[in-house]
Amino acid sequence: MDQKTIISETDKYYLPVFARYQVAFTHGKGCYLYDTEGNAYLDFLAGIAVNALGYAHPVLVKAISEQAGKLMHCSNLYYTDIQAKAVKVISEVTGFDKVFISNSGAEANEGAMKLARKYGIGKNPNKYKIISANHSFHGRTFDTLAATGNPHYQEGYGPLPAGHEFVAYGDLAALEAMMSEDVCAVLLEPIQGEGGVHVPPEGYLAGVRALCDKYDALLIYDEIQTGVGRTGKWFAYMLSGVKPDIITFAKGIGGGFPLGGFAVDDKYAKVFAPGDHGSTFGGNALACAAIFAALTAMKAENIPEKVAKKGAYFKDKLKELQAKYSDKVVDVRGEGLILGMELTKPGREVAEACLADKVIINCTSVNVLRFVPPLITSEEEIDIVIATLDKALAKF
Ligand SMILES: Cc1ncc(COP(=O)(O)O)c(C=O)c1O
Repeated sequence: MDQKTIISETDKYYLPVFARYQVAFTHGKGCYLYDTEGNAYLDFLAGIAVNALGYAHPVLVKAISEQAGKLMHCSNLYYTDIQAKAVKVISEVTGFDKVFISNSGAEANEGAMKLARKYGIGKNPNKYKIISANHSFHGRTFDTLAATGNPHYQEGYGPLPAGHEFVAYGDLAALEAMMSEDVCAVLLEPIQGEGGVHVPPEGYLAGVRALCDKYDALLIYDEIQTGVGRTGKWFAYMLSGVKPDIITFAKGIGGGFPLGGFAVDDKYAKVFAPGDHGSTFGGNALACAAIFAALTAMKAENIPEKVAKKGAYFKDKLKELQAKYSDKVVDVRGEGLILGMELTKPGREVAEACLADKVIINCTSVNVLRFVPPLITSEEEIDIVIATLDKALAKF
């Protein structure tokens, strides 16, 4: 199919919920996507922080293909060899004892919030409040929307599930004022992604941890965007050393396979009894093959350590651009390979200019350019992006 037909057929049949760029891709390799004419695009969005190992990574392709020929799906009423391997490696890289596997990030957060609710209500019938942050993003299902601190996503869907409250991200005093025995959980991204790549102030997460301990509320980190090596650690909580009670993950965990899940320590594992939570597809054999292959490859390739180095290199280069265009760039921030460049005005125009030059980046929260490339990217590829961005900012 040519590009024009792909776009018109998709627009004819797909619900118009996405503001799509006018380009159609047929395949990818490494950090590049290829359109219908064979043009190569350097992809620094990676399917929104998903394709950690880039495209067509041989280990992942082999594992998924072989598993598809063996066993794709078998009910969670039974055990499978590949699920046993997948949960072991997730436990190793997350540092948590027990794992639940879902199909997406929103479902991961749903499960984590259900566990926290059940824990809270088990202590006191009023202990059901979940506090999350302004400008957060936790998903598109009803309860994750209710926990998302951005009215833009919520408008038109009320009434949303009750029991959610919001606090300014990074403001410990504001959180302290809201805490009570009725709070069952505080749900935070350790670095806000969609909200504009916001890194919390030094000491904030340790303060949140102390407040959760004081009020016996579970601290949930939504690591759907920050997890799986992206910040230069396996999970962002390892940057500060402040361990939450529940961690949620998705995106990079399957290297492109649709997946999510959450992990807890043994202390909270018994909150759920058999039948309290579940999923038909979650953790099926094919998904587990993707998890096991992706995480094993990342371990073998020492991905988090390399991300820390490449991220520092990239951030320095972005800061040089900030100095060069100080009238257009307000800030550069982030950790590892989740970096943001805040502009003085809406930045979609910059993302479009880069796309015209065959570099894919994204603009989030109106005026923040976000860079979440495949974790396997190189300094040479970073240099290409910087040169393209330089050109786009000059015209901006
Ligand atoms: C931090 C965070 N939480 C949750 C989600 C929702 O994940 P999904 O789209 O897989 O449901 C996202 C997606 O962008 C996210 O960035």
